[in-house]
Amino acid sequence: MVMPSSGPADLADKVVVLTGATGDIGQATSWALADCGAIVVATDIHESSDVFDADERIDYRPLDVTSRASADEVIANVMADHGRLDIAVLAAGIATTNPIDKVEEDEWATVMDINVYGVMNIARAVVPIMRERGFGKIVAIGSIAGRLGGVASGAAYAASKGAVHALIKNIARNNANQGIYANAVAPGPVSGTMWGEVIHGGNPPDPASWVPTERFGTPSDIAQAIVYLASPQSNWVTGQVLDVNGGMLMV
Ligand SMILES: NC(=O)c1ccc[n+]([C@@H]2O[C@H](COP(=O)([O-])OP(=O)(O)OC[C@H]3O[C@@H](n4cnc5c(N)ncnc54)[C@H](O)[C@@H]3O)[C@@H](O)[C@H]2O)c1
Repeated sequence: MVMPSSGPADLADKVVVLTGATGDIGQATSWALADCGAIVVATDIHESSDVFDADERIDYRPLDVTSRASADEVIANVMADHGRLDIAVLAAGIATTNPIDKVEEDEWATVMDINVYGVMNIARAVVPIMRERGFGKIVAIGSIAGRLGGVASGAAYAASKGAVHALIKNIARNNANQGIYANAVAPGPVSGTMWGEVIHGGNPPDPASWVPTERFGTPSDIAQAIVYLASPQSNWVTGQVLDVNGGMLMV
């Protein structure tokens, strides 16, 4: 028998931990998840942030994704305060632009530490909790750079995002029979700080020469894909890298 499909994404009472939450995509995602009824624990490296002050659905806590102690403490506090943790969105990341022959040792280490170790570090902390409940959704943010090799971003960034895609597949494969879904969203260029300022020094190129849709993405374009992967609407989707890029990459 064919069952009727469910309606719009309903995340009522689901507890979400989100990293990199004060960034462009993190903010849009925090609000999008809260709009679906989720209780959002928004984290970022800053000791405090007023970004979410006006929104009582979102609770800000500092979390440096490169610190195992910080990750363990925040996750333990979320469990103590809310008694559950259903969804982890791993959005913290940094970009650099150096090609392979210019990559500095500390640049490579820092990009890998935040972008790859940071994803592993939070996943490591939440997977046992999700296994115990037999349910959990993990959504990491990869990048089109991990698919195409980094057209504007550098060698370290492209390598780190390729690693995120592979890590998510490993988590998905090893936990699919425990009710845990792990996926990544791979955005193309999104208007905002990382693309406009960090990668292009405040002078981003004309989107018409880059993207078939002739516009760069918005943080909300990415947030909606993350909501899909966090919601019951994606309940048979795991181990995928969802490309959201205005048609820049078609496979
Ligand atoms: N903006 C784009 O064009 C684009 C494209 C593809 C992928 N992405 C990815 O999307 C994610 C979000 O990017 P964004 O555009 O919002 O960038 P952003 O720079 O606005 O946000 C990144 C956030 O990560 C946080 N962060 C950095 N180091 C951290 C640490 N050690 N611990 C905790 N938080 C830390 C920053 O404080 C910042 O708030 C990143 O992983 C990025 O690589 C972005």
